[in-house]
Amino acid sequence: QELQMNLEQIEKGGYDHFMLKEIYEQPSVIKDTYRGRLHANEGIVQMAGVEDNLEKFLNAKRILVVACGTSWHAGLVAEYIFEEFTRIPVEVEYASEFRYRNPIINKDDIVIAISQSGETADTMAAIKLAKENGAFVFGVCNVVGSSISRESHAGAYTHAGPEIGVASTKAFTTQITVLTMIALRLGKAKGTLSNSDFHAYLQELELIPEKVAEALETNDRAKEIAAAFKDAPNCLYLGRGYNFPVALEGALKLKEISYIHAEGYPAAEMKHGPIALIDEHMPVIVIAPKQGHYDKIVSNIQEIKSRSGKIIAVVTKGDTQVRELADYVIEIPETSDALSPLITTIPLQLLSYYIAVMRGCNVDQPRNLAKSVTVE
Ligand code: G6P
Repeated sequence: QELQMNLEQIEKGGYDHFMLKEIYEQPSVIKDTYRGRLHANEGIVQMAGVEDNLEKFLNAKRILVVACGTSWHAGLVAEYIFEEFTRIPVEVEYASEFRYRNPIINKDDIVIAISQSGETADTMAAIKLAKENGAFVFGVCNVVGSSISRESHAGAYTHAGPEIGVASTKAFTTQITVLTMIALRLGKAKGTLSNSDFHAYLQELELIPEKVAEALETNDRAKEIAAAFKDAPNCLYLGRGYNFPVALEGALKLKEISYIHAEGYPAAEMKHGPIALIDEHMPVIVIAPKQGHYDKIVSNIQEIKSRSGKIIAVVTKGDTQVRELADYVIEIPETSDALSPLITTIPLQLLSYYIAVMRGCNVDQPRNLAKSVTVE
């Protein structure tokens, strides 16, 4: 018994929970993900699975992303990135919906399946269906040799290492890293991304691990905010553009491990419903980095403020405008709009983690949830 406990302590590397360890691993695993693939100074980004099938990717009329849970959120981030960098239309589907709705799948479609475990039953069924209809299937998996990685025609691993915490953290950021690299490679080959933008993104992506490390310094701030809001029954997450999926992921993280009801919304949709929920008891977490639709998000924040909502804002270091309006700000380092999800998601992971710990929840194994869902 004691030996068992010691073993687990060692596996947690000094952290109280696997989830916290995995959150803190992100700077190094993101580096592992791009190691050997990204060479910013030489202007190279390459992955064998993409190079071997470059023609297919370049001729793709459409990219369909199928995934579940957090992987689906990574797919949504990828939609924004792919459409911006490659101008290939992207659709992101819940694998469970896709497989049961007689979807339109064409021979020149590329289906990207995203799955940490590579074992999710719905995602597996979705790619089988895609293959039957002649599509090319590209897997983005974390677990090497997993069913989905074997069933795919080609793929790229995320190299995040084993993820034990049921709530996905490092798998999410490494999935986004892989998908961003693919979009950069295709954007360059297609000429849809200017040469200077291509090089700037490569340089910036290489800096992301450092910036994630800096974002992890929001740990104490996240703890402090967690203490203030741990008893809230509800929570709203808002973001726009690249950070809309981050809002969804932030809300999912909170509900998964703390059992607080949370919803993520595109900030501009607030006026079509969620605004009715806002009063002085409602914490609203707004992702408001300088890049992107800053002015728009500032006016969303004003709308929340005028209804007495409690505002927790994730802002770029040095921000003054949001600081004046928000009850709490969390400062993160500056990066480009397209890469910002890799940074903005960090404090939201920490916030959920501390709220769950303070509520006495089983962070690594939340009730009713499984790490990999191999049944329907
Ligand atoms: C489960 C896990 C989630 C995960 C989802 C998809 O619900 O608890 O963390 O995002 O499955 O899993 P996959 O392994 O396909 O990424």
